[in-house]
Amino acid sequence: MIASRQPAAEAVAAYNAAMARFWQPVCAAAEVGAGPHFVELLDRPLTVVRLDGELACFDDVCRHLGASLSLASVVPGPGGEGQVLRCAYHGWSYDRSGRCVDIPARRDAPIPRDARVRAYPVAERYGLLWVCLEGESTAGIPEFPEFDDPGFHLTPLRVYEPWACSAPRIVMGALDDTHFPWVHPGLLGDPEHPEPPEHRAWVEGEYLMSTYSTLQPANETIGGAGLETVSYTNWCTPSSIRLLKSGPAGRYAIYEVVCPVAYDRSLIFLQMARDFDTDPARDAEYVAFEDVIQAQDKPVVESQRPWLLPPLSSRLMLYVRPADLPLIAYQKWLEELGVPQV
Ligand code: FES
Ligand SMILES: [Fe+2]
Repeated sequence: MIASRQPAAEAVAAYNAAMARFWQPVCAAAEVGAGPHFVELLDRPLTVVRLDGELACFDDVCRHLGASLSLASVVPGPGGEGQVLRCAYHGWSYDRSGRCVDIPARRDAPIPRDARVRAYPVAERYGLLWVCLEGESTAGIPEFPEFDDPGFHLTPLRVYEPWACSAPRIVMGALDDTHFPWVHPGLLGDPEHPEPPEHRAWVEGEYLMSTYSTLQPANETIGGAGLETVSYTNWCTPSSIRLLKSGPAGRYAIYEVVCPVAYDRSLIFLQMARDFDTDPARDAEYVAFEDVIQAQDKPVVESQRPWLLPPLSSRLMLYVRPADLPLIAYQKWLEELGVPQV
């Protein structure tokens, strides 16, 4: 049965190459302190470091004998100018561009031209570090306007355990609402109302967007009761989704961005913002709620096969209309973007 097999090596390579064209979140910015920090993106081990306060990201392999640069130290460069990353094994030192600027065992000869490690663009935004392996990203960092909107209160960033699945599967799990009554009964959906809402889905700029209104259990901790009608607007990219929910209580944004560590491993970063019930003392409750939702979703999404999305044309997934309309639109869009399906 094709669906239970591991994807072919070419399919994994195509997935990695397609996702490498986008900015991807790799870690919380706070995780990178005084020294280098190891991360993995699309099967590639990387080290992220701040040199003279500026971020740098390198392949995590010293050009000399291949030791991990995550074991290296940040030290003053030769002549005391600017900080460099000094390998723990024999002290080769690299500047922010990845060029080796010191080989302690051979200081009396020029440094070979090949003595450099590959450096990647790295940026800090929304409390996260982002890397684009391709150098030029085809799209910007997914936007989170509520992050610095004074009308919204932010919850602390949440980083979940890696999920054993590909990143688009996680995005589709958040885009899909028809599982709410089944996976999240009493929290996001009502088993008495399994009928799908009316969806709209379209491409706008760098996003696949969708909207719908649905019945959800009200938040009793702020005086809600029974079911209430809420409207969602979603902005998706190949590895992120921002959901903006509007209901009687106010507006609630979920910024969920996924690091595609590998085709079968993905790391979720999640931050929420709300324009009601804004006392920070209440954050723990909202975070705990989202933790439950994530824990309910995880085993189901991890169980999905094949690992990488099968092409729409294969009909390996039997979408039904109108319920699955946003998923169909999303997958079609991924195919147009060249995110491969196997
Ligand atoms: S392996 Fe890095 S200096 Fe030798
Ligand atoms: Fe879910």
